[in-house]
Amino acid sequence: MGNYEVGIDAISVYIPPYYLELKDLALANRTDPDHYLVGLGCRRMALAPPGEDPVTMAAEALETLFERYAVSKGEIGMLLVGTESSVDEAKPVASIVHGLLGLPSRCRTLDVKHACYGATGALRLACDYVEKTARGALVVATDIALYDIGSPGEPTQGAGAVAILVRKNPKILTFEPFVEAVYTRHVWDFFRPPHRQSAIVDGHFSVQCYLEALEASYLFFREATGRSFLDFQYLLFHIPFPKMAKKALARLHQVEARFSEVPCSLEEDFERRVEPALYANAEVGNIYCGSLYLSLCGLLERAQDSDASALLGLFSYGSGSCAEFFCGRLGPDPNAWLGQTGLLEALKDRKRVTYEDYVAWREAREGEIGGKRFRFKGLDKGRRLYTSPKRDESRS
Ligand code: CAA
Repeated sequence: MGNYEVGIDAISVYIPPYYLELKDLALANRTDPDHYLVGLGCRRMALAPPGEDPVTMAAEALETLFERYAVSKGEIGMLLVGTESSVDEAKPVASIVHGLLGLPSRCRTLDVKHACYGATGALRLACDYVEKTARGALVVATDIALYDIGSPGEPTQGAGAVAILVRKNPKILTFEPFVEAVYTRHVWDFFRPPHRQSAIVDGHFSVQCYLEALEASYLFFREATGRSFLDFQYLLFHIPFPKMAKKALARLHQVEARFSEVPCSLEEDFERRVEPALYANAEVGNIYCGSLYLSLCGLLERAQDSDASALLGLFSYGSGSCAEFFCGRLGPDPNAWLGQTGLLEALKDRKRVTYEDYVAWREAREGEIGGKRFRFKGLDKGRRLYTSPKRDESRS
């Protein structure tokens, strides 16, 4: 990657302050709660109330980044947004967020789209840019994941944003040179035509596409670097639902077994190298572009000092499909990356929402409650609260 080491110098998270318990969703969908909790590994889904969208979430994640790390807005020369739930077909989220944050006008802004791979594609572009200039680049992954009510994808929904600052000589994660361990295959496993808020998905087929892309990109990575997945202290995957990580690890075990003996059981390996990051995804749900980086934040919050300089393997998958396997090394000073992402604070102060409110919020988002507006109720611990139109109606 040239003369410079490039990677993540700051990272922060925004999670909407509301959640639905998947037990409540299972009850409403007349399903055994263990189907969602054990079968998919999901526990709660973060819910964005009307009034929040991928723009506001991206801006919140960036605000946290500027508050928590020493970054001057003047040094930013690029802002890229990875999203698949944009609010406009022409104007990028990046442009609106650039205005909200007051970033310098000598700055390139654009959205990068390829389903959940968008943010990783953006990260690659940002790394190339940073390597060639004296400035920093921001990448924000921001999405609200919606599937049809009662559909198999519904329990995997989530909402949130992750903001990343890419700089030279980064303190958090230095990427090893990217070796083009990328894989594209045109498939209709998951897509969302412009008139729809929720995705159309062939769920079981999408799982097969994900695993096929993982195998192919891992083999490219292995061949180009001489590294195997056994070299990593932790493995981070795109997480549509936490159980997917176990399926992914199982596939890597199978592939690697063609070359050498894998010296640990799947269960033991999963517990040691994959599970430590997954609690965040289980609490939040799928945040599409940000899902892999939410896992990274989960790890950065719970890692130990002894994880300094640990080598991480990362796999990014976007339906449609495009995928990439890459790796990076944690910084040598844990004080620079332990517990600074804002994730734990965001998870601590959330409010539980009823199934009925969840449905009402969705209907409002999908424009099915004609003309009625959500009412701003006030602030609770600095966070915005809303009443739903349905509740307002029942009171009047
Ligand atoms: N107790 C314990 N486990 C149970 C159970 C119970 N009572 N009932 C079911 N299960 C288990 C099943 O045995 C199954 O386990 P395995 O996967 O280990 O076999 C698991 O729960 C899932 O159950 P089903 O096979 O019946 O599948 P489902 O109807 O729950 O649908 C899904 C699963 C297809 C993934 C669906 O959630 C979906 O469509 N999700 C959206 C698409 C998606 O996430 N795809 C992932 C790859 S694509 C991608 O990654 C991009 C992206 O972000 C969308």
